[in-house]
Amino acid sequence: MALNLVMLGPPGAGKGTQAVRVEQERGIPQISTGDILREAVQAGTDLGRQAQAVMERGELVSDALIVEIVRERLARGDTRDGFILDGFPRTVAQAEALDRILAGRDPLVVVELSVLDQALVERLSRRRVCGDCGATYGAGSGAVPAACTRCGAALVARKDDREEVVQERLRVYREQTEPLVAFYRDRPSFRRVDGNQAADAVRLAIAGAIDAAQAAIRVQSSPAV
Ligand code: AP5
Repeated sequence: MALNLVMLGPPGAGKGTQAVRVEQERGIPQISTGDILREAVQAGTDLGRQAQAVMERGELVSDALIVEIVRERLARGDTRDGFILDGFPRTVAQAEALDRILAGRDPLVVVELSVLDQALVERLSRRRVCGDCGATYGAGSGAVPAACTRCGAALVARKDDREEVVQERLRVYREQTEPLVAFYRDRPSFRRVDGNQAADAVRLAIAGAIDAAQAAIRVQSSPAV
């Protein structure tokens, strides 16, 4: 069975951190709509120009734009054995569109990372990202390194990690994205994971949640005797 995974959770919950680990462990691509948009901003494309101001205010880019990006990405052959969606869907309209895009493919596994608001704000104030390769730092208890340990480039704070923008992103999450929990909750493949633990413990909990969700999918799709 392909692992068609959605990582759901508020800004700073650790979706990106954990998606990279699942990608390494399972050999399926991480698809981060935030990364795709930031790359477009950096490259100065039409998409980047449309998205930049919206992202810096902490709001969401339009459903139509983002659904088309994801539709094209999921049509590529490297998603055949599965994929990890990080930051998509973010509205009920996006979730409905995703169900239509995936018609005929294996069911989604949805993992919600739940983290207390106070911890989210602290994590995002500490987060530094590589301005070149996009690697993220800040998960450990030690100091963030002076430069990227992967490529040596300078580390910077994301523009949308300023405190006032973080508050807006949390408000937008509660209003537009949290309703997705109700949208997915009754599916046998929905799992909630405590994201307040150390990153390695979260990784183990996610691995267990994925296995349990896929077992539930198998039970549901096996013919009754
Ligand atoms: P996006 O980039 O998706 O941002 P986000 O959802 O707000 O998520 P973040 O990247 O901030 O957090 P994360 O959960 O990935 O946490 P991370 O692993 O980095 O989107 C940015 C913008 O793009 C949106 O605001 C919107 O404008 C637009 N956009 C994107 N997708 C869209 C869509 N579908 N529709 C419309 N608009 C869209 O971790 C955070 C920090 O915590 C890091 O420093 C990390 O090292 C640390 N950390 C991680 N895990 C732990 C742990 N267990 N303990 C301690 N620290 C930890």
